[in-house]
Amino acid sequence: MTNAVVSRPTDLEQEVARRRTFAIISHPDAGKTTLTEKLLLYGGAIELAGSVRARKNQRQTTSDWMEMEQQRGISVTATALQFDWKGARLNLLDTPGHEDFSEDTYRTLMAVDSAVMVIDAARGIEAQTRKLFDVCRQRNIPILVFVNKLDHPSREPLSLLDEIESVLDIGAVPLNWPIGNGPTFQGIYDLQRGRVMQFSRTAHGQKRAPVQISTLDGPELTGLIGEDAAEQLREDVELLEIAGEDFEFERFLRGDLAPVFFGSALTNFGVEVFLDALVDLAPPPQPRASDQGIVEPTREDFTGFVFKIQANMDPRHRDCMAFLRVCSGRFEKGVLVHHPRSGKDIRLSRPHRLFAQERETVESAYPGDVVGLVNPGVFAIGDTVHTGDLVEYRAIPRFQPERFARLVSNDVSRTKQLSKGLAQLDEEGAIQVFHSIDGGARAVVLGAVGDLQFDVIIARLENEYGVTTRIERLPYRLAQLGGRDVRQPRR
Ligand code: G4P
Repeated sequence: MTNAVVSRPTDLEQEVARRRTFAIISHPDAGKTTLTEKLLLYGGAIELAGSVRARKNQRQTTSDWMEMEQQRGISVTATALQFDWKGARLNLLDTPGHEDFSEDTYRTLMAVDSAVMVIDAARGIEAQTRKLFDVCRQRNIPILVFVNKLDHPSREPLSLLDEIESVLDIGAVPLNWPIGNGPTFQGIYDLQRGRVMQFSRTAHGQKRAPVQISTLDGPELTGLIGEDAAEQLREDVELLEIAGEDFEFERFLRGDLAPVFFGSALTNFGVEVFLDALVDLAPPPQPRASDQGIVEPTREDFTGFVFKIQANMDPRHRDCMAFLRVCSGRFEKGVLVHHPRSGKDIRLSRPHRLFAQERETVESAYPGDVVGLVNPGVFAIGDTVHTGDLVEYRAIPRFQPERFARLVSNDVSRTKQLSKGLAQLDEEGAIQVFHSIDGGARAVVLGAVGDLQFDVIIARLENEYGVTTRIERLPYRLAQLGGRDVRQPRR
């Protein structure tokens, strides 16, 4: 007989196993902010729902620098929210929606292991959801779908599932089923555990929704949800059992099939079950491709990469923060890392975590966590830092710009400052800088994914480099830019 040696998981393995790093993607107004807030409410990170939304409402698109700064402060404070749920540690990475849609949003998706797609139950799949979904698809990011606003008159669940499948070309398997619709929406049937969950509203949805549980066949069901609803639910479930597709975990992990949950973030109906499912289904930090092959998160050497750079986050100190996703090993404050792009060794002595308006110093972090590093012009998007053997992660792709504009300086005496500013903004990934030869003269052409990027550039060039500029929109498409006369400087 052989004695099996069972080794106990190390601290690192345990910490990796309990991490879930994800982003929420949606079309504006589908309920991303509300769901974020409710996840934080259930996770115990906030006591009353309302604060995240209140902050969002202060946000507005504006070219006024102070307000934009304020808005950036807000979006940045939410760069990575960390909270615990049933022993798991969740990192929610913010993907700004709305007008501030930009390359930043896409890049954040390079730093997550899964994504939650929020869909408005009356509107179905909308334009921005599709774009964000495409980025997830390219990376095979597993997606969980939360169909929101069931408390409002909604489309039929089956038609929504059909739409997800046909428009996104992905399998869609419901893991819960709504009971009622609009004013009659009162709960869900948890198809995995076979339980009926009937919820009660709380004032403004500020607190957790009380829940009563029954089985589908239990005598108490009719008393709980009413005769008509009980009959309808039994019919629906029978139909799903006959016609429904099975949930295949492997397909989900490949990003080929999405579990679908129905609920209402506003009233908290279905939020807790969703959070449970997120912890159960979403994968822990995944291995990452590097020039030295695949790096496992449990590798002892610390490695990470920069996925976002944000300048002037705090108007009190004009600093620049680089956001690093930890990919392997344990990160410790003050660690001496190697920075392959510059060939230098750097001590990471002031790591931060950001939550609400506060910065908090990070003593340690594990794979999946996000650390903010004060960046004295050292880091660029995609940079690797590591301890131990040399390793470099693959570059983060640049995303195809959708809008173009010629940048015109109002101040020819400040050409040097303009070049310096553009180089920095290009490096940060705030905008893509191209040059074109216009009738013999060299003109700067900017490419962006979202309009707000142009406003930010003009404001930052003026505030940080003292150069006033304006933009002239160009009707170019990328295909036209691919010609001889336009080139992008090497990064
Ligand atoms: P977003 O971040 O995706 O843009 O959406 P957000 O959460 O801000 O929600 C957009 C609007 O939809 C908000 O209404 C919000 O209250 C509402 N909403 C979110 N989830 C639900 C839900 O489950 N049911 C219903 N009925 N509405 C929901 P608003 O009028 O723009 O703002 P407010 O006046 O409520 O603050």
